[in-house]
This record gives sequence, structure tokens and C-alpha cells, in this order.
Amino acid sequence: MSSHSAGSNALWGSRFEGGPSDALVALSRSVHFDWRLASYDIAGTRAHIKGLLAGGYLTEAEYDKLDRALVALLERVQQGSFQPKPSDEDVHSALERGLLEIAGAEIGGKVRAGRSRNDQIATLIRTYLLDQANVIGGLLIELIDILVTRAEENLGVAMPGRTHFQHAQPVQLSHHLLAHAWPLVRDLERLHDWRKRANLSPYGAGALAGNTLGLDPNLVAAELGLAGPTQNSIDATSSRDVVAEFAFIGTLVGINLSRLSEEIIIWASAEFNYVKLHDSYSTGSSIMPQKKNPDIAELARGKSGRLIGDLTGLLATLKGLPLAYNRDLQEDKEPVFDIVDTLTVLLPAFNGMVATLHFNTDRLEELAPQGFSLATDVAEWLVKNKVAFRDAHEITGKLVSYCEQHNLQLHEVPDADMAAISHHLTPDVRDVLTVAGSIKARAGAGGTALPRVLEQIAALRKIAPKREA
Ligand code: ARG
Repeated sequence: MSSHSAGSNALWGSRFEGGPSDALVALSRSVHFDWRLASYDIAGTRAHIKGLLAGGYLTEAEYDKLDRALVALLERVQQGSFQPKPSDEDVHSALERGLLEIAGAEIGGKVRAGRSRNDQIATLIRTYLLDQANVIGGLLIELIDILVTRAEENLGVAMPGRTHFQHAQPVQLSHHLLAHAWPLVRDLERLHDWRKRANLSPYGAGALAGNTLGLDPNLVAAELGLAGPTQNSIDATSSRDVVAEFAFIGTLVGINLSRLSEEIIIWASAEFNYVKLHDSYSTGSSIMPQKKNPDIAELARGKSGRLIGDLTGLLATLKGLPLAYNRDLQEDKEPVFDIVDTLTVLLPAFNGMVATLHFNTDRLEELAPQGFSLATDVAEWLVKNKVAFRDAHEITGKLVSYCEQHNLQLHEVPDADMAAISHHLTPDVRDVLTVAGSIKARAGAGGTALPRVLEQIAALRKIAPKREA
């Protein structure tokens, strides 16, 4: 081991006369949060020594010894018998210490040739996030599957559709549930598209300008399962847009969950009484014995704010950073780790809540025609009978106003009173004054009519096939 003054196992320090102050060490340290990258760091190092072997910087025997040492180190990391020490600055320094302990300083000391922590960390964050994208993507597919299953179970159930949170037009509950599935499908697509940009290896970029050793970056990329090396060493070590994009997608997932959450919270209230939460996915109150609270939905709504904070914090860190690597970039990790942790703890609970939600379908059906939600059907019926829409709108408005004054629903207005409002309002209009008729009529592309909803289900099933129970 060298007698570096930055600490016995620091990766730098020989040009410094005194060691760093305790305050600097405490500030600089990232191993308490970047340790989760340990297995990715070891995978990177195993790929790198293959490159050193191919480049003639290691003999076969040295390579074998180092690779065995790295495998042993990985085992110790996974068992927890190798842990970072307070003197380790980051995951890279901790693992170098571990490698030197196993392989010995002489051969272990060859590993750092041709790489820098700058290209190393830029690679690790990518390989880590690529794995996390799979985990989050899997949970999203599960949620889409659950929403589609709930839609299949409730085909034909009508509910009030709202705009401005006021009754607007009746829709199928299935259609409404699927409306929450589609944004998640787009989030999945975003993750998929993000992979193209994330799936590249900065290894070989060195500190910023590339390496002089002629190491093959394609070899390292292939070893890491990445599509190829990045194109510009300065960009590779100093940009974090790949991290920011992942953070955005994760945040958007949270925002999408918060919208369904808000509805579930309202739906579960006594006044709405649209749904009942399953006991295992709701909580009680410590003082009010009668309470059944939608905590999962509330936490999802609350955590979406936290995700926005993570994303905006990360973006603020990146803003105005000159090229190339700056230590500010160490601050990219905690926000994106928090996004990963938040979603991976939230989604399983959220999915369970949606899977077990009980819909009070009788109540939904009963409320569907209320609030004059069939008024548009009347207006469109008039249009089909050759009344200009402008006039149809006015006639229907008068009909609604009459109903309000007489405390009637649209279908309850006597024929004579209807005719008095407009001679166009013949008794035939009653054909469209049913919820079922209204829903059936909305058969245009993407509409709430049964054939359109079944088409959506078929399309979504290609993305989220039904899971065996
Ligand atoms: N812990 C550092 C980070 O996360 C690793 C790179 C350190 N590079 C350096 N030149 N100090 O960014």
C-alpha cells in the first residue's frame, strides 16, 4: 500500500503534503450512498481487466488471478463480509481496497491503468439504471395488467364521466380504468426508448480525454452487455442527461399514480361511496375506531411531490456545469436512487390496492344519468334530426333549465312540456335518454362504447398479458 497522505487507501494523494481535513473527508464521502453500485463496479472492473489482457497489459496468469479475486470480492460484498470503512471515499476506493486485500498490492495495482473514476462512475450509473428500469417496467406491466383485468371484470358498468369534476357524460367504468392504463403504457415506452441512449459504455473515456493505452472500448461494452462505446469522451464523462431522463420518467410514473390516487381517495369517501378498499390495503386510525383510510393512495400522491423534488434538484445540479467532469456530478446519485427506491416500494402496494379495490357498481350505475349527463345526447339527437348544433344546444339548455326548475330528470319531462320547449323535441328523443343508449352511441374511435373498449383491452393485452392468478 502506498503512503498516500489522503488516507491509507485513497486513490490519490501522493502530491499532497498533508492529509485532507476531517471536514473535507466527511463532505467528500459518497460511499454511504454509492455502495449500492458495488456489484456494478465489480462487473465494470472485470470487463476492464479483459480489456487490459487484450491490450497486453496483463498476462493470462495475472488476469486469472485478478478475475478470481474480483469474483471472491463480489461474494464477500454480497454476503456482507466486505463492507466499506469510514476511511473509504466512495464505492471505487472501497472496492479497490478490497481487491488489493485479496489479490495483493502488486498485481491489484495494475487494474487502474487506462481508466478513471470519471468514466467508471459514468458507466456504473448507466448499468445500474438499466437494471432498475427493468424492475420498474415489470411493476408497471403488472399494474397495467391489473387495470385491464379490473376493466374486463366490470364491462358494461356505467359511471358518471366528469369534466371540471362535474357530471358530464356517462362512461363505462372499464373505459375510465383503461384511461389510467394508457399513460402507464407510454411510461413503459419512454423507458424502452430511454434504453437506446443509456445502453452505451463511457469506459475508455478516462478522466475526460480518452486513454493512451489503446484499450478496446467495444470489448468492455460487450462484456457489460452494452450496445457499444460512447462517441465523445468529454461528453461521456460529464453529461448526465441519461440520468435526468430516467428521473423524469420515474417522476412521471409518480405523477400518473397520483392522479389515480386522488380519484381513489375521493371515491372511497362516504359522500362518493364508489369504492371500498380491501382491509389489507387500507389503514385504521389510532383514535377513531370507525376509520378506514386510503393511506396507500395518499402516500402515492404525497410521494409524487417528493419525486418532483428529486428531479428538479438533479436538473438544478446539472444546470450551467462547464465541461468536463465536475464533482457536482456526484450529486446525481441520491435523487435518482430515491426515485428508484420510492417507486419500488410504492408500486407493489399500489398494485395490490388497485387489484383488490371493490367497486360499488350499483351506485355508479345509479349516479351515471344524474346531473343531466345525457344532455349532449339530446343535442346530438337533434342534430341527427337536422337541427343546427347551435340551436340544438340552446333547445337542450332550455330543457335542462326546465328540469332544474321542476326538479325533474331529463327523461321525466312530460311530452307536452317538451314540445312546448321546442317542436323538435318529439317523444322519440326518449330513445337516447338512457345511459346504455348513450354509451352505445359513443362508438367513434376511442369512445366508451363496448366494441371500442374491447379493442383497447385487446391492444393492452399485447403489452400486459393476463397473468395466471
Ligand atoms: N464519487 C464520484 C462521483 O460520484 C466518482 C468520481 C470521482 N472523480 C473525481 N475526479 N473525484 O462522481
